[in-house]
Amino acid sequence: MSTLSPPIFTPAELDAETERLFRKLMHVDCEPGKQWNYEACRAIAPLTLEINQLKREQNAIILAHSYVEPEIIYGVGDFTGDSYFLSLKAKEARAAKIVFAGVVFMAETAKILSPDAVVVVPDHNSGCSLADSITGDDVKKMKALYPNAAVVCYINSTAEVKAESDVCVTSGNVYDIVAGLPQRQILFVPDRLMAENVRSEMKRRGVDKDIVSSDGTCMVHDQFDVSKITEARARFPGLKVVAHPECTPEVASAADFVGSTGAMMKYVKTTPAPYFLMLTECGLVARLQVEDPEKRFIGGCRMCPYMKLNSLEKVRDALLAPRPDQIITLDEDLRQRAAHSIERMFELTPKKD
Ligand code: 13P
Ligand code: SF4
Repeated sequence: MSTLSPPIFTPAELDAETERLFRKLMHVDCEPGKQWNYEACRAIAPLTLEINQLKREQNAIILAHSYVEPEIIYGVGDFTGDSYFLSLKAKEARAAKIVFAGVVFMAETAKILSPDAVVVVPDHNSGCSLADSITGDDVKKMKALYPNAAVVCYINSTAEVKAESDVCVTSGNVYDIVAGLPQRQILFVPDRLMAENVRSEMKRRGVDKDIVSSDGTCMVHDQFDVSKITEARARFPGLKVVAHPECTPEVASAADFVGSTGAMMKYVKTTPAPYFLMLTECGLVARLQVEDPEKRFIGGCRMCPYMKLNSLEKVRDALLAPRPDQIITLDEDLRQRAAHSIERMFELTPKKD
């Protein structure tokens, strides 16, 4: 058992950890304009060693979304990826504890799928402008207006909203799932811009759907602007523009590739181009700088203030002695109803690769 006094590590253990961190983080900024150097990695080595020791002692795992700081992902994360991948990992997890370094709706999803695990969040204020835009009661009211519609919720939604939905979707499977639903009318919550992108994609595929949506947007992705794409293409010939489906339809149609953060990473890694413009949260660029350091990115990404509430210190505290506000709890009936929409998503997601 750990005590509240920090463990002491030997100089050899600290050197090996510093080396491990430096090899991963050397191409990434630790603060704007300042790359991780050996000293900066040495400064966090005691903390990453302590967190990794706590994980072993507690049979805990850390799921980290690609948008959180790279020192969390590469220092202590066990699984990193997009919402779909992390949901699968939460479902498969046999850990006693799951620390979700991401935002609260993602941790709630992990608790829905892994109810016997203690699920904790580093910072309970890590909301999401999409998830926070609509309540379960709002969805009930919309359902009364469209009784024949299939209710589809984007995974960026609360457990209450998931519990009111027929099927959950992520940025990686939304088009295929909506296209395959038997109902013509779709009530899509909470992302209005993703709903518009789904509408265009259904038209492109020749699938007849009537899509009604609520009015949420992602405060990060709704800010990207087509004029910046035009400017960037003029300045950087051969540039590839990569966007997330939470962007406006104008931005999505001006991009070379649109997909989930996982698909965006795969596209960049497999596409030869002199420059990339990433229309998403900056954490994804940091991941690519670690995993594909030869690739060149021009400015464009934006920070999600909620994802950036995560830190190594808060991860350690959530593992060592979580406060009640860091522990995800859900009413069992609500959890089961929310689980139904996520399980349906797993059933309907086409198996690729
Ligand atoms: P992904 O599932 O594509 O990682 O998206 C999550 C998210 O919050 C995007 O803003
Ligand atoms: Fe929510 Fe947007 Fe942040 Fe993703 S980037 S967590 S959608 S606010």
